[in-house]
Amino acid sequence: MQSYVLLFTLTLVGYSCGQTTAPQLPDVEDALAADGRFTTFLQLLKATDLLDQINETDHFTIFASTDAAFAKLPAGTLDNLKASPAQLDDVIGYHVVLNTSFRVHGTQQDTVLHSSTSQPIRINTYNVVHTVTAEGVNITVKNISVNHGYVHGIDGLMKPPLGNVVDLGSVRTDISTFESLLVQANLTTYFTSDHSTTTFIPNDDAFKKLTPDVLEYLNTHPADLAEVLRFHFVKQLSLYSLGMKHAFSIQSTDHNHDLLMLFEDDNGGMKVNHAKILEKDISSVNGVVHIIDSVLIPAKVLVAIEDSKVVIG
Ligand SMILES: *[C@@H]1O[C@H](CO)[C@@H](O)[C@H](O)[C@H]1NC(C)=O
Ligand SMILES: *[C@@H]1O[C@H](CO)[C@@H](O)[C@H](O)[C@H]1NC(C)=O
Ligand SMILES: *[C@@H]1O[C@H](CO)[C@@H](O)[C@H](O)[C@H]1NC(C)=O
Ligand SMILES: *[C@@H]1O[C@H](CO)[C@@H](O)[C@H](O)[C@H]1NC(C)=O
Ligand SMILES: *[C@@H]1O[C@H](CO)[C@@H](O)[C@H](O)[C@H]1NC(C)=O
Repeated sequence: MQSYVLLFTLTLVGYSCGQTTAPQLPDVEDALAADGRFTTFLQLLKATDLLDQINETDHFTIFASTDAAFAKLPAGTLDNLKASPAQLDDVIGYHVVLNTSFRVHGTQQDTVLHSSTSQPIRINTYNVVHTVTAEGVNITVKNISVNHGYVHGIDGLMKPPLGNVVDLGSVRTDISTFESLLVQANLTTYFTSDHSTTTFIPNDDAFKKLTPDVLEYLNTHPADLAEVLRFHFVKQLSLYSLGMKHAFSIQSTDHNHDLLMLFEDDNGGMKVNHAKILEKDISSVNGVVHIIDSVLIPAKVLVAIEDSKVVIG
C-alpha cells in the first residue's frame, strides 16, 4: 500500500514537471519593466539583492509603490533613499514578502503577511469605500501575476509598525499622559492583547485642556478612569483613515460600548466625536493609532464628574 502511494505521488510529480502546456508567466523584473507604472520602484529594487532572493523562493509578493506614489513623496525622500543603501534595503525589503503568494480577494480582513525584513504587513478590506489597503496604503493595482508570485501596486510607501500601542509611548514624547494613565489603570495588557485594534490617543496638550479638577477626579476614581481610556479604544477592527467615512460610527470598548462617530470637517480633516484627528495612520503591531486633540469622556462619566461638582475644562 505504502509503495503504491509513493509510486502514485512520483507519477503526479513527474506529470506536473513534464507539463509544457501551462502558460509561462513573466519574471517579475520583466513584468515590472513592461508595465511602465513602476519604473522608480524597479530601479530601487534592482539596487538591492532582493531580486536574487525572489529568484530563490517558491512564493513571493511585492507591494510596489507606483511612480505616481513616488511623485507625491516629500521632496528629497527619494534622493535620501538612493543615497543610503542600508535604508534602501530596509524600506524596499519591507515591501517584499518572500514566503507567500498573496492575492487580493476583497474579503481579507486584518490578514498579516511577513515582510523579508521580518515585519508585519497588515491587509484590510473596507467594503463601504471599495478599498483594500496594505498597512493603510491603498492597493490601487491588484493581482499582477508573475512567475512564482504576485505584484500589487500601492499608492505610497508603507511604514512598518514600531511596536504595540504601549511601545509607542517610548518612541514619541507627545503622548506620555495617556501612556502613563494606561499603566496606572492596569490596562496595558488589555490594550495590547487583541490582534486588530484602533486607538485614538489624545496627546499631552489634549489632557492640558481638562481642568486640574477633572484630572484629580479621574486619578481618584479608577473605575471611571478605565472607562475614559477604554472609550478611546476599538477592538476587532483596524480602521486606517482610508476606511473612514463621514457619519461612520464604531463601538468603543467602554462598558456601555459608547459610539465613536466620525465626521469629515470642512478642511477635509476628520473628527472623532468632538476631537480632531491630528495625525492619522500610525501603525502598531496590533492595529492602528490616530492622535487626537481632545480627551473623549463617556456620558456616564461626565455625569458622575458633574455630580461631584467639578468644573469641566
Ligand atoms: C534565477 O536562478 C536561475 C538558476 O536557479 C538562474 O539561471 C537565473 O539566471 C536567475 N535569474 C535571475 C533573474 O537572477
Ligand atoms: C513567513 O515567515 C514568517 C517569519 O519570517 C512566519 O512567521 C510566517 O508564518 C511565514 N508564513 C508562511 C505562510 O510560511
Ligand atoms: C485577485 O485575484 C483573486 C483570486 O483569483 C480574485 O478573487 C480577485 O477578484 C482578484 N482581484 C482583482 C481586483 O482582480
Ligand atoms: C483606492 O484605489 C482605488 C483604485 O484606484 C480607488 O477606486 C479607491 O477609491 C481608492 N480608495 C480611497 C479611499 O481613496
Ligand atoms: C491587571 O490586569 C491583569 C489582566 O490584564 C490582571 O490579571 C491583574 O490581576 C491586574 N492587576 C491588578 C493589580 O489589578
